[in-house]
Amino acid sequence: MSNIVLSLNGLSKKFGSVVANADVSLTLERGEVLALLGENGAGKTTLMNMLFGHYLPDSGTIDVADANGQLCPLQLGHPLAALSAGIGMVHQHFTLAENINALDNITLGAEPLLAVRRSTRLARSKIDRIIEKSGLKAPLSTPVGRLSVGERQRVEILKALYRDANILVLDEPTAVLTPQEADTLFENIKAMTKDGISVIFISHKLHEVLAFSDRIAVLRHGVKVGEMATSQADEKAIARMMVGAESPKVERTKIATGDPVLQLKNISVAGRSKRDSLEFVSLEVHAHEILGIAGISGNGQGALAQVVSGLMTLSEGTIQVGGKEITKPAPQAMISAGVGRIPEDRHREGIIGAMTVAENMVIERLEDSDIQSRGLLRPDAIEAYARILEHSYDVRGPGVTAAARLLSGGNIQKLILARVFERAPKVILASQPTRGLDMGAAAEVGRRLLEARERGAGVLLISEDLDEILGLADRIMIIRDGQLVETKSHDREAIGLMMAGEAA
Ligand SMILES: Nc1ncnc2c1ncn2[C@@H]1O[C@H](COP(=O)(O)OP(=O)(O)OP(=O)(O)O)[C@@H](O)[C@H]1O
Ligand SMILES: [Mg+2]
Repeated sequence: MSNIVLSLNGLSKKFGSVVANADVSLTLERGEVLALLGENGAGKTTLMNMLFGHYLPDSGTIDVADANGQLCPLQLGHPLAALSAGIGMVHQHFTLAENINALDNITLGAEPLLAVRRSTRLARSKIDRIIEKSGLKAPLSTPVGRLSVGERQRVEILKALYRDANILVLDEPTAVLTPQEADTLFENIKAMTKDGISVIFISHKLHEVLAFSDRIAVLRHGVKVGEMATSQADEKAIARMMVGAESPKVERTKIATGDPVLQLKNISVAGRSKRDSLEFVSLEVHAHEILGIAGISGNGQGALAQVVSGLMTLSEGTIQVGGKEITKPAPQAMISAGVGRIPEDRHREGIIGAMTVAENMVIERLEDSDIQSRGLLRPDAIEAYARILEHSYDVRGPGVTAAARLLSGGNIQKLILARVFERAPKVILASQPTRGLDMGAAAEVGRRLLEARERGAGVLLISEDLDEILGLADRIMIIRDGQLVETKSHDREAIGLMMAGEAA
């Protein structure tokens, strides 16, 4: 009996003229954790989608071990075949139904509907066993819409394990997690591998790849360019393999701050739960300044971003942009006042997936005379403008006339950056702006934010990535339980403790 549970053999996939994968071969052993790396758009998700049957390869085959450890060909292009072969996938974007609870989400589709009531107890005890073995904890009877991202993700993994997956694919599982949550996830993964489960995870975070994987495979422009045991790897070698060069460090220059461009005074909002509420929050962002908001996810970051986007009704307090009070906060009012926003959930709030890349690029400036004349949009002008942005922001993909949902995660973020930065807003709200981006793209976001600061914009940077805040912010505030406190400290350890709630 061989130890190999999965073998991808020469998989290729093209989308039109885009070569997403070219002749990629990979094997996976029982109990192994394989990290799949590569720049945004390198073809990682596409490869995993072929494994899971979402895409039909143009050529190549896949073999999966059966119950006796014998490798058998997998029927390609059939998610059900992949599922029954024991392949489970947790996607880059979550797929849970928000209005039903975690338990039902986990069992949904795995049990015949009519039998659900009868089998709830059985299902529950199976889930309890899985939780006990893996350590994946989540509130099972709460509607998924009210769970934190970390909890949602654990539910996604539980859902795959509930379907008896023994090959688990995690597409950027830690992109949405805090460092602590990520550590817990990897402990859970280690526990699963002891149980014979094999894991492929995609990540842009080299430190966690080095700490938690057994082996590393690297894709570049759809081709597998390298593979090594993690024990033989170091950060520099991997980075070089991924991009062909090391990415430059972002430099921050000293600069005098100007007048306040965004002022929140005693803002209170009541969300559905404590984690989307704010209590008497005040802050000021000045021109030429980046204010970093550090905190563990679910402490009011979402509410704060929504307030600044004009998406929440204030029960208390005032907002001023550029010194003028916004009396009726609404998305259009905030945009017109000069707020540009990089939303946290770029798929749901950042783009309209069915519209083209070009349309998405102009969506916040439909009034401008180069985009429309006498109320009619000018498609040629929009396309020409989009091509310029596509070039200067290095948006890679199937082109500006393709649907935006076809872009890779990192390239969607570049599209949003292009749209926001091109309007030269007074205030930039950046929520988790580098989440899911490769090193090069993340450095690019940092560079653009600093450029905006230099130009005179004020940036409100909300991030769970403390290193990002320490690297970019001029001032730091900590958000906890819907309240903000400023800290003078720029010490990683000290701020980490304040985020977790210890006295400074
Ligand atoms: N359905 C599709 N139609 C057209 N092009 C696609 C489609 N899916 C992916 N692509 C393109 O194929 C390439 C590989 O995309 P993929 O999503 O696999 O990249 P990735 O390595 O997962 O990137 P990221 O790190 O940004 O998630 C990209 O250029 C992408 O735009
Ligand atoms: Mg991807």
